[in-house]
Amino acid sequence: MAGAGLLCLWSTILLVRVLGSAAGGGFPQWNCGCRNCRAAREANGARPRTQESVAVSADGEAWFLLNASPEIRHQIESFVPLHPRAPRHSPIRGIVLTNGDLDHTLGVLSLRESHPITLYATEGVRRGFTDGNVLYRTLERFEGQVTWRMLRTGQPRELELADGASSGLQVEAVAVPGKPPVHLEGLRPATADENVALRIREGKTGRILAYASAVGAITDGVLRALDAADCVFFDGTFWSEDELIAEGLGTKRAQEMAHVPVDGPNGSLQGLGHLRVGRRIYIHINNSNPLLREDGPERAHARAAGWEVAWDGMQVEL
Ligand code: MLT
Ligand code: MN
Ligand code: ZN
Repeated sequence: MAGAGLLCLWSTILLVRVLGSAAGGGFPQWNCGCRNCRAAREANGARPRTQESVAVSADGEAWFLLNASPEIRHQIESFVPLHPRAPRHSPIRGIVLTNGDLDHTLGVLSLRESHPITLYATEGVRRGFTDGNVLYRTLERFEGQVTWRMLRTGQPRELELADGASSGLQVEAVAVPGKPPVHLEGLRPATADENVALRIREGKTGRILAYASAVGAITDGVLRALDAADCVFFDGTFWSEDELIAEGLGTKRAQEMAHVPVDGPNGSLQGLGHLRVGRRIYIHINNSNPLLREDGPERAHARAAGWEVAWDGMQVEL
């Protein structure tokens, strides 16, 4: 079987598979006829993308998802190592949530087919997802349907297999500037643990994946979260501060949506330029972002600065 060779090759590294690389709404977005979305529909210089989610593994057997997008079913089917290996089985051993935004959490509700699910999240994210959420009751149909494993910012913990053994991966949540999910805005005071970056470390090799798909500003904390990582995935939602307004697609600036833009004086190209890291990859790319155009000047500019743009199916082996 082709997969067996791969699994063997994969025995001691940190495997990262991009399941979805777009921001909320995906690409093209259902109600958008902007230049980018038209290009994606016409297969003319921009490839379609599903909403952001990444799978990681230390051995190719046990997998953990970073975020659960509304397109999770299709995303699981798109990657053979995530398929069941028995009549009732899933190699997905847990899902790590980085915030409560629907593009990161709706997929959890889709996994309601009477299968135990383990969720790793901070208390702020857990509360935001469960409190007063009648839909969550569909995941409380039997004792132990959902196990929450709490992330405390700054305290690494193991990602566990079903029997509690270590998967070989450790995760640390790092609080980064963000905002509450749209559906919780104004309901309660925001907490610092509502939006986190992740540092995932493979125990044998010490390889580190830094994952920061929603970052409102580049602070010392953000730089620490990314420092010395072998691979960084970073918030690539917007190219510029006002692109939604300039393109007539919306009224909000990037900052109001707590996404640091790629370009500009406060952007991530500038702010992360000096980082000592391995590969650097933009993810959570909004349909309005000109980076999505393969042959555009923005893509060339980012590439020249050492940045890649994530695509669905991209695989990184660290
Ligand atoms: C975001 O990334 O800012 C959110 O996903 C937006 C939203 O929830 O609509
Ligand atoms: Mn989002
Ligand atoms: Zn569009």
